[in-house]
Amino acid sequence: MHAVIGGVILVIIITILIFIVCQRRKKEKYFRDNGGMILKHQRIRIFSETELVKATNNYDNSQFLGEGGFGSVYKGVLADNTLVAVKKAKDVDKARMNQEFQHEIGIVSQVNHKNVVKLLGLCLETKVPLLVYEFVSNGTLHHHIHDKRSQILGSWKNRLRIATETALALDYLHSLADPPIIHGDVKSMNILLDDHYTAKVSDFGASVLISPNQTGIGSKIQGTFGYLDPEYLMTGNLTAKSDVYSFGVVLVELLTGEKPTSSSRDGEKRNIIQYFISSVEDNQIVQVLNFEPADDDEMEEVEAVAGLVKRCLNGSGLKRPTMKVVAEELARLKKLSDNFWAQQGNEETECLLGESSSHTSYEISSINMDQMDTYTVHTTFDIERGSTVSI
Ligand SMILES: *[C@@H]1O[C@H](CO)[C@@H](O)[C@H](O)[C@H]1NC(C)=O
Ligand SMILES: *[C@@H]1O[C@H](CO)[C@@H](O)[C@H](O)[C@H]1NC(C)=O
Ligand SMILES: *[C@@H]1O[C@H](CO)[C@@H](O)[C@H](O)[C@H]1NC(C)=O
Ligand SMILES: *[C@@H]1O[C@H](CO)[C@@H](O)[C@H](O)[C@H]1NC(C)=O
Repeated sequence: MHAVIGGVILVIIITILIFIVCQRRKKEKYFRDNGGMILKHQRIRIFSETELVKATNNYDNSQFLGEGGFGSVYKGVLADNTLVAVKKAKDVDKARMNQEFQHEIGIVSQVNHKNVVKLLGLCLETKVPLLVYEFVSNGTLHHHIHDKRSQILGSWKNRLRIATETALALDYLHSLADPPIIHGDVKSMNILLDDHYTAKVSDFGASVLISPNQTGIGSKIQGTFGYLDPEYLMTGNLTAKSDVYSFGVVLVELLTGEKPTSSSRDGEKRNIIQYFISSVEDNQIVQVLNFEPADDDEMEEVEAVAGLVKRCLNGSGLKRPTMKVVAEELARLKKLSDNFWAQQGNEETECLLGESSSHTSYEISSINMDQMDTYTVHTTFDIERGSTVSI
């Protein structure tokens, strides 16, 4: 009798052991398939599956942040209390889990810009790799534009600042690597605001994991209706200028408060984008704005931005300015607009600078210094002094 019980227990123990070994083997296999052997030598942090299950409370519904084009996003808390956003991609092309993918992840992990949501690491032990991003607390630009209760866009200064920060981020992505990192889905939902209302571009880099859908030319197009570059729609060739177009659409949204798919307010069956462009051409920009510029100086800035937006929306990518030109132009306007404040606020700035020594220094070591532009140094510096005033 005792022998029988002993035998049964032995069988149970062996079964459990086999199960554990199989689970581990499976994780190891996924890890290898996902390029873990090479990626573990990159600077990017590798998370274990258990760590992320714990952080997100096993992907509990209460942690669900949203569903993007690339998959679902969950909020999580790591063991060291860091807040993160964990992104589970939907579809991944296994054929791309090769050196190209690893090369791209290598680039993505170098991205370190104040206005880009930082990729903290990856989990490779799952069938589809999970991406772990820093958590950005204050919602999307989309939310702040379309929720009437939000006050943040009440001032032109804030609108101009958010536009400039977004442009700097996109220019940074375009100039970091060759071929450029193309975002591919620039829209107000993908621009997040942190607790200082600093803009942070999100959801780039996830695109490197996405398989091109092979079921037909139309279905290969990725992106969001209303923001899509018409040239990309026709040719299927996604370029850096596609991001310029989408950014132009975001600025129309920011200036008019209208969603890009809505029709114009004048009752004509015209899309808001066309309505915006013809308003610029007729020097009637004031009729499409959803705010009133405070004075003539502000009106001039708004007109300059509107003119720039029109150029971003040119049907031909070649005729659109590069993101660098757009960012420089916006930064110049913002500087003009800030000048008065800068004179007033000198003392306060010095005070903030003084405090920065006690601040943990921002991780600069992982940026390729050759590829960094001077403004990146400036904006990175701003994080240290805890201020949202940049450039
Ligand atoms: C944005 O951040 C500010 C400051 O931290 C906070 O007071 C506010 O409630 C936040 N707004 C939203 C919509 O989360
Ligand atoms: C590919 O496109 C088809 C049709 O649009 C869609 O049903 C399918 O889910 C897509 N597959 C992937 C992997 O995106
Ligand atoms: C796609 O666009 C890029 C940049 O404009 C260009 O160099 C390339 O030749 C284009 N490719 C195709 C297939 O049209
Ligand atoms: C596109 O840009 C070119 C060159 O600046 C200009 O001649 C043309 O009118 C623009 N097209 C549109 C639709 O704005």
